[in-house]
Amino acid sequence: MRYSALLAARAAGLRPSPIRKIAPLMRLPGMISLGGGYPNPQTFAFESVTVGFREGKSLRIDGPTLAAACQYAPTDCHPPLKPLLQRWHCAKDGVDLGDDSLLVLNGSQEGLHIAAYLLLDPGDSVVISEPAYPGALAAFRAFTDRFLPVPVDQDGTDTHELERILARIHGSGGPMPKLVYEVPNGHNPAGVSLSLERRKHLLDIAQRFDLLILEDDPYQLLQLEDRPPIPTLQSLDRSGHVLRLDSFSKIFAPGLRIGYASGPTELIRAFELYKQGTNLHTSTMAQALLAGFLELHPPEQFRALIRNNCQVYRDNRDAMLDAARQFLPSSVRYHVPREGMFVWFELPPGFDSQRMVETDGTELGVLLVPGPAFSTTGGLRNGMRASFSMATPDALREGMRRFAVMIDREAQRVRAATAG
Ligand SMILES: Cc1ncc(COP(=O)(O)O)c(C=O)c1O
Repeated sequence: MRYSALLAARAAGLRPSPIRKIAPLMRLPGMISLGGGYPNPQTFAFESVTVGFREGKSLRIDGPTLAAACQYAPTDCHPPLKPLLQRWHCAKDGVDLGDDSLLVLNGSQEGLHIAAYLLLDPGDSVVISEPAYPGALAAFRAFTDRFLPVPVDQDGTDTHELERILARIHGSGGPMPKLVYEVPNGHNPAGVSLSLERRKHLLDIAQRFDLLILEDDPYQLLQLEDRPPIPTLQSLDRSGHVLRLDSFSKIFAPGLRIGYASGPTELIRAFELYKQGTNLHTSTMAQALLAGFLELHPPEQFRALIRNNCQVYRDNRDAMLDAARQFLPSSVRYHVPREGMFVWFELPPGFDSQRMVETDGTELGVLLVPGPAFSTTGGLRNGMRASFSMATPDALREGMRRFAVMIDREAQRVRAATAG
C-alpha cells in the first residue's frame, strides 16, 4: 500500500517536534543535557508507589524507576514497557512488532480518533458495520459524514455484501472508501465474532481493492467459551493492509487508559507526530504500572488470569440468556455471544426502542441502549443493546423479566397504532 497517499490533507502539515527529535540524544550515557525542558525529579511529589495486585503479587516502584515513571516519556512508549508489550503481542497473536511498529495510546478510543484525523478528508467514506460502536461513529463523524454500512450476522460483518458494495462502486468509477472499520471479536454492540473464513475474505477484499482495515479489538480475550481466539486480521495479513488497535481496558483496568496501535511503520509514525502535538504521550505512571504488571505476569500467567476473570462474564451471559429464553417472546431475535459483553436484541418491526426506554424504562427499572445510537443513519429503531458485564446473575435475570414487560407494553402500543 502507498500509505502516504492515504493521509488526509490536514495530516500533511504534521511536523516532528524539534525538541522531541533530540530527546533520544539526551539519554545517551555521559551526555550533559541542557536541552530538555524536563522538571527535576528531586521536585516530584512521590517517594514510592506500591500496588498490590488482586491475585497476591505486589509491585513497588521507587528510585530511578519511579523518577522515570513520573517524568515525561517518549511519545511512542515508556521505554521499559516496549519490550514487554512486544513480548505480550507476540505471545498473544504470533506477530513480532518492530520497535517502530507500535505506539501506546490513551485507550483504543484515542486510536480511533487519531486514525480518523490522519486519514479522513471531508467526503471520504468509511466501511462500518450496522449496528456500529458509537465511539467509532463519533470519532469518524468529526471528519466525515459518509459511511458505507454493512450488515452483521452470526458470523460477523457480511463480507459478501461488502464485496458486492465495493464492486459496484469500483465498477461505476466512484470514490472508494478510505477505511474499513472492523471489530472482529465480541462485536460492540452485535456481540458476534468475524469467522475465520470471513477474516480471510475481508483480507482478500482489502488487498484486491487496496483498502486499509482498522482492526479494533478490545474484546479479543474476553472468551466466553474458553476457546483460543480466532487469529487476528493483522496476523493473517500478508500485504500490510491492517492497522490494529489493542486495548488493556477490558483485561487490566480501563481507568488507566492504555491501549496501543500497531501496524505499518509509516502510519505509526504519523500517529506519533499527531500525538506529539496533542498530549505528548500516554501517562508514564500508567505505563509504568502496566510494565510492572507485565514483568510480574509473563504472557501465560496473564492469559490464565484473564481466563479466570472470563468466568464472571460467562456466568452472567448464561444467566441473561437463560432468562431471555424464559421470558422474551420468540419474535425477539438475538445471537449467543462467544466473546465480549453484549447481546443485541432485534425486536419486531414497528417497535420503537427509544420510546420503550423513555416511556417504561424508569418505571420498570430496567435500562438498555436503544438501537439508533448504533446506526450510521439513525435507523435500527427496533434494536436494543444489553450488556451483561456489570449486573449480578440475579439482577440480569430480573432485568430480562422486566424487559419482557417492556416488550409487551410496546407490542400493545404497536397493535393499537395499527388498529387505529
Ligand atoms: C469496540 C470498541 N472500541 C474501542 C473502545 C474504547 O476502548 P478503550 O477503553 O481502550 O479506549 C470500546 C469501549 O467500549 C469498544 O467497545
